[in-house]
Amino acid sequence: MNPSQVPTPDTNLEAYLQSAQSSQLEDLSDWLRIPSVSTLSRHTADVERAAAWLARKMEAAGLQNVETVPTDGHPIVYSDWLHAGDGAPTVLIYGHYDVQPVDPEELWNSPPFEPTLRGDNLFARGASDDKGQLFAHVAAVEALLATSGSLPVNVKFLVEGEEEVGSPALYAYLPAQTKKLSADVCLISDTHILSPDQPMIIYGLRGVWAGEITVNGPSQDLHSGMFGGAVHNPNQALAALLAQLHDSSGRVAVPGFYDEVQELTESERIALAKVPYGDVELLQESGAPAVWGEEGYTVTERIGARPTLEINGMWGGFIDDGFKTVIPAEAHAKVSCRLVPDQHSSAIGPMLEQFLKQIAPPTVEVSVNTLQHAPATVVPLDVPEMQAAARAYKTVFGVEPVFSREGGSIPIATVVQESLGIPILFMGFGLPDDNLHAPNEKLHLPNFYRGIRVGIALMQELISS
Ligand code: BES
Ligand code: MN
Ligand code: MN
Repeated sequence: MNPSQVPTPDTNLEAYLQSAQSSQLEDLSDWLRIPSVSTLSRHTADVERAAAWLARKMEAAGLQNVETVPTDGHPIVYSDWLHAGDGAPTVLIYGHYDVQPVDPEELWNSPPFEPTLRGDNLFARGASDDKGQLFAHVAAVEALLATSGSLPVNVKFLVEGEEEVGSPALYAYLPAQTKKLSADVCLISDTHILSPDQPMIIYGLRGVWAGEITVNGPSQDLHSGMFGGAVHNPNQALAALLAQLHDSSGRVAVPGFYDEVQELTESERIALAKVPYGDVELLQESGAPAVWGEEGYTVTERIGARPTLEINGMWGGFIDDGFKTVIPAEAHAKVSCRLVPDQHSSAIGPMLEQFLKQIAPPTVEVSVNTLQHAPATVVPLDVPEMQAAARAYKTVFGVEPVFSREGGSIPIATVVQESLGIPILFMGFGLPDDNLHAPNEKLHLPNFYRGIRVGIALMQELISS
């Protein structure tokens, strides 16, 4: 062979990446067929199968020390490759293999656990959140190991099966494993970018408080003809209480709710204003008839940098076909708050309960039960790894990423950052219209393949950061 025809490692890698696309898609589809719904106990065995599938795939990709760690809940999957040599940094890649329930299933255009390709999109529950995005990094490692036999950096994978239920097992596992998980930086692809051609680095995620409000009235359900008008209806009382949780300017009316909230600085407002996302995009992606929210803030600020209170569900009394003239004994609401830096997630439940008790009429009793809480995550922008992340996106997409804050939550992220003392790079490649948690979740495949390249580019950039 003429020396000029000897393929360099890069052309090797390029050829590999092009020829591997169909097997990467097949692999991911296999994984997506396993209904790993963490919140439904009837899927416990499926969640375990999804963990085992990932562990096998990691072995095949050349990762080592692959472990499926049993927990009180769903397994944690760990693996690593630690041969990058002296001085090479270590990247901890976090993701989750559990998925959300599929209901309402009748609104799916193809079955949620039969991955289906339509145009550029692969439709399946978990395609974007988070199996597809996590899988891209396994594929990135596999590509480098297959073509060059090594990685530029050390890599550790930490993948859980309980992110969608608040990560109880990982909260218990992490504190004792800080040595094993020690790394220089954590990479999480579980967020989205702005559009197929505009990458975005997330430097803040909101925290969360979630709980349930219960209103109790009469000691049992009553005939609404015999008692209506003389007994306060718990559904009506609950509706009145919920209606007082916001004021007319869209602010949360619970006293103390904003006490610890860090106001946006002028320079951050200017920076966030550069994110090309506004009312038009919001209306398009949500299908809502009009924009709503806290006066004085843009939609990017409202979503990423302001706290909120949402009523996620309300029930009580009779909701079946036809009608039943009844006054229910109790009424319920599921409520959640998104929190911003410095808000104490543990304080929200008591604060809400105190307010509701104070405004509740003496005709009913109200109580609040906390189900989950975690503080907001803030990532430092001035670390060299952040520059490496930006360069990696630029290399693959050809454009500089924008920096923004996102409204969703990854409860364990703050614990990872604080217990390991490392910054997190939130480098997603999902899209805002991926239908996360909703019918017809999908993954934009061109971005999936770009995600694999971003993973590779990041490993390469981190050695020069
Ligand atoms: N991947 C999401 C978080 C996310 C979504 C971040 C969109 C940024 C943009 C994650 O899987 C998720 O859904 N988290 C839950 C956590 C909750 C169950 C405690 C959330 O945000 O509702
Ligand atoms: Mn996720
Ligand atoms: Mn999710």
